[in-house]
Amino acid sequence: MTPPEGALSARSPVEAARERFRADALEGLAGTPKTLAPKYFYDRAGSLLFDEICELPEYYVTRAETALMRAHVGAIVASWGPRVRVVEPGAGSGTKTRLVLEALGPARCIEYVPVDISREHLGEAAAGLRRDMPWLRVTPLAADFSMDLPRASESDRAETVVYFPGSTIGNFEPAEAAQLLARFRRASSAVVIGVDLKKDPSVLHAAYNDSRGVTAAFNRNVLRRMNRELGADFDVASFAHYAFYEPARGRIEMHLVSRAPQVVTVAGRPFRFAAGESIRTECSYKYDLPTVERLAHAAELHPTNAWHDDERRFAVVELRPLA
Ligand code: AVI
Repeated sequence: MTPPEGALSARSPVEAARERFRADALEGLAGTPKTLAPKYFYDRAGSLLFDEICELPEYYVTRAETALMRAHVGAIVASWGPRVRVVEPGAGSGTKTRLVLEALGPARCIEYVPVDISREHLGEAAAGLRRDMPWLRVTPLAADFSMDLPRASESDRAETVVYFPGSTIGNFEPAEAAQLLARFRRASSAVVIGVDLKKDPSVLHAAYNDSRGVTAAFNRNVLRRMNRELGADFDVASFAHYAFYEPARGRIEMHLVSRAPQVVTVAGRPFRFAAGESIRTECSYKYDLPTVERLAHAAELHPTNAWHDDERRFAVVELRPLA
């Protein structure tokens, strides 16, 4: 694959990512309302907490998607070509990725390219896959997939499919999600996304307000990360986890609400919080098929296939370029 633009710059991807975190945090905290991009949840501790979330009884998302993939993976890969390269934004190796790679098998899958900012995540994912699927060619790529994605080489006559499971697309604002999908379109001939579907708000509410407080710990962990990586001085306990479903926008919002007036320093800059003022740390958009279609069109794609689980909690949608 052709390396992404900027891959040969002097700074390592990790240094560049740290600098981007600093710049994004300063910009987000200076705004009204204060915001932080959800991609910053996923340091080591945050990734482990997210793994725990996926096992929670209230967080149906992962189970629904996995059940759907188990039931339909054969049909999902059936329309892909005889030689397929699977590109996964985010270091995969999870159950869903394995189902896809196994369904393609050695006869069809010529390469698997996980793309992740963290070399550590990539290394672990690649090692696990190489161990369990010795036939698989794994080509990990250290890059921020929301900024760069490699262009597929056309010399090996393989179809490149971007597989983007987990409803991660839901964590992007619709305009950003469309840009991201357009980037995926330029890197592939098909994009397959997992989307969490609109449903009873009480089910959604419970999924982001679990009784064990794991989601609250996941949310607050981003403050710990800023303390460690950006020299911030957040008093983590003085911020409350607050998550709710906003039906008009079809999204869960997660916030960290300051319990008291306070000033916090981040990368040497002071930020004032009134009591009750929040940092919005995540939006998680919930879709229906017409909204997916509108999003796809904005990226010059259109849905060519869609599958959902029996309870219509989750959908996997294949998108291809508009003719
Ligand atoms: C990764 N992403 C799809 C999760 C979501 O549901 O939006 C992140 C998450 N946030 C709180 N719980 C899980």
